[in-house]
Amino acid sequence: MADLFSMKNRVVLLTGASRGLGRDMALTLAAAGATVLCAGRTVKELEGTVRAITRKGGKAHVVPLDITDEAAVREQVATIIHQHRRIDVLVNNAGIIYREAIVNTPTELFRKAVETDLIGQFVLAREVGRHMLARKYGRIVNISSVMAILGRASVAGYVAAKHGLVGLTKNLAAEYGPHVTANAIAPGYIRTKLNVALQENKEFNTMLEQRTAAHRWGKPEDLRGPLLLLASDAGAYMTGHTLVVDGGLTTILA
Ligand SMILES: NC(=O)c1ccc[n+]([C@@H]2O[C@H](COP(=O)([O-])OP(=O)(O)OC[C@H]3O[C@@H](n4cnc5c(N)ncnc54)[C@H](OP(=O)(O)O)[C@@H]3O)[C@@H](O)[C@H]2O)c1
Repeated sequence: MADLFSMKNRVVLLTGASRGLGRDMALTLAAAGATVLCAGRTVKELEGTVRAITRKGGKAHVVPLDITDEAAVREQVATIIHQHRRIDVLVNNAGIIYREAIVNTPTELFRKAVETDLIGQFVLAREVGRHMLARKYGRIVNISSVMAILGRASVAGYVAAKHGLVGLTKNLAAEYGPHVTANAIAPGYIRTKLNVALQENKEFNTMLEQRTAAHRWGKPEDLRGPLLLLASDAGAYMTGHTLVVDGGLTTILA
């Protein structure tokens, strides 16, 4: 059965691989046999991820990339296909968040969140998608959020973009079948640099512990199984789906 989730001989382009959830995803995919192309803006941190993988005998490379730079995305996708012959799996994980009330939010700040959390994913899914369609194989995994189900004060840009990403995932599924699947993961709260403010907020911690059946924050490793399901052949008949991995947060009121 392990073969079902195997990533052997798969080439994966993973954005946001430098830290947080992306770093754990990179290690997970490499441990399952993939060659992981670790994309992001901070090369030094990406090198750290690649080193951690190669030290364990896995295969990985650094891909310097700002996903909001469309020309750079085009160029990197072409370079990867030239060097590695293919991209089997795209994991759109990179993302940012800002915290500000709507009435105090400059349009540019909102636009930046949408550009990084939705438009970058669209551009990558389009550029990589053309290649996957031609090859008649592909898996796209978009990392959305429980903020694609709920709203929350002060994170409007993030909420709008993550809702949009679920819609984009459905459309990718509609247009990319039958050989290319597109799914999303909607994680609950997992301690990373993205949510330091919430980790330090006592009220938020109490609320989270009450609202999750698991009574705890998520851990990066909680996403390993769901990621492998959607990135491997195990998920071949799943597409357009958003897999919620939140310890029960969005199904329990209190
Ligand atoms: N942590 C959670 O609780 C949680 C919950 C739900 C969903 N998520 C989602 O999971 C994903 C990863 O989040 P995280 O918690 O691991 O956050 P994180 O620790 O802040 O990591 C974000 C990653 O995205 C990269 N990134 C940001 N902007 C980029 C850009 N323009 N181009 C390329 N890479 C960029 C960062 O690398 P550089 O800065 O070096 O470019 C970094 O590797 C995000 O999409 C986030 O919305 C997280």
